[in-house]
Amino acid sequence: MKNKVIVITGGTSGIGLACAKYLINEGCKVIITGRTKTTLENALKELGINAVGFVSDTSKLSAIDVLVTSVKEKFQKIDGLFINAGIFKSANFEETTESLFDETMHINFKGAFFTIQKFIPLLNNPSSIVLNTSIVVFKAFASTSVYTASKAALESIAKVLNVELASKGIRVNVISPGVTQSPIQKKSGMTDEAINDLLTHFSTTAPIGRIVQPADIAPIVSFLLSENSWVLRNEKVIIDGGATL
Ligand SMILES: NC(=O)c1ccc[n+]([C@@H]2O[C@H](COP(=O)([O-])OP(=O)(O)OC[C@H]3O[C@@H](n4cnc5c(N)ncnc54)[C@H](OP(=O)(O)O)[C@@H]3O)[C@@H](O)[C@H]2O)c1
Repeated sequence: MKNKVIVITGGTSGIGLACAKYLINEGCKVIITGRTKTTLENALKELGINAVGFVSDTSKLSAIDVLVTSVKEKFQKIDGLFINAGIFKSANFEETTESLFDETMHINFKGAFFTIQKFIPLLNNPSSIVLNTSIVVFKAFASTSVYTASKAALESIAKVLNVELASKGIRVNVISPGVTQSPIQKKSGMTDEAINDLLTHFSTTAPIGRIVQPADIAPIVSFLLSENSWVLRNEKVIIDGGATL
């Protein structure tokens, strides 16, 4: 991965930040994005000179255009794209509002869709795209209907892109993390007690015997971004410590 240039959307905390750290240790130059300026600045301080970052709201197509132009100016081309920015807000189906529906779909699916589309001219031949979906795509969890739909929609395009973009040397694979300890739980509006119950449940019931951490996911994302996984197309790697077995 020496000198590979990798874009990570939502690279300012949790899984994205852990992947940025890992990839930099592997010799990559990493570009991270996020919505919150202070979180971005703190992440860049942690990551050091081989990272650059941009405040960029992935749900806004104009912001994606600005991001792509900025990355092009600085790096011209990129070798990998980790589509990771995402939100989760718990709501049961009957209480899911139009505004939560739109917010979730705009960030988790529409933003992801157009980020990939707009980065295609910058992607080298060969290059790799990794999509971050979730175990919710194949296992039902109550109060996740719109989140599940957004991740299922994202996962569904991987196979189409593998066919359409193969001639450009671009391939697409998917990671499906299980419950992973990150700031996403607090941002979702869950109480500390509910978060504690969730993490305890998965720690005690999964074969791994503890909760999955963002750092567990980073080497797998790195492998999928590297040419060592060249033969993999539309592979879905479940990273849940066995929780869904
Ligand atoms: N943690 C889990 O249990 C779990 C399980 C399966 C899948 N995932 C997926 O993993 C991905 C990362 O989640 P995480 O757990 O690492 O959560 P996290 O710590 O909250 O990280 C989410 C990242 O996405 C960014 N982001 C959110 N909305 C954005 C937007 N509109 N534009 C640009 N950036 C945006 C956040 O930046 P700001 O803070 O500035 O908004 C942050 O950098 C998500 O797609 C999530 O659905 C997580």
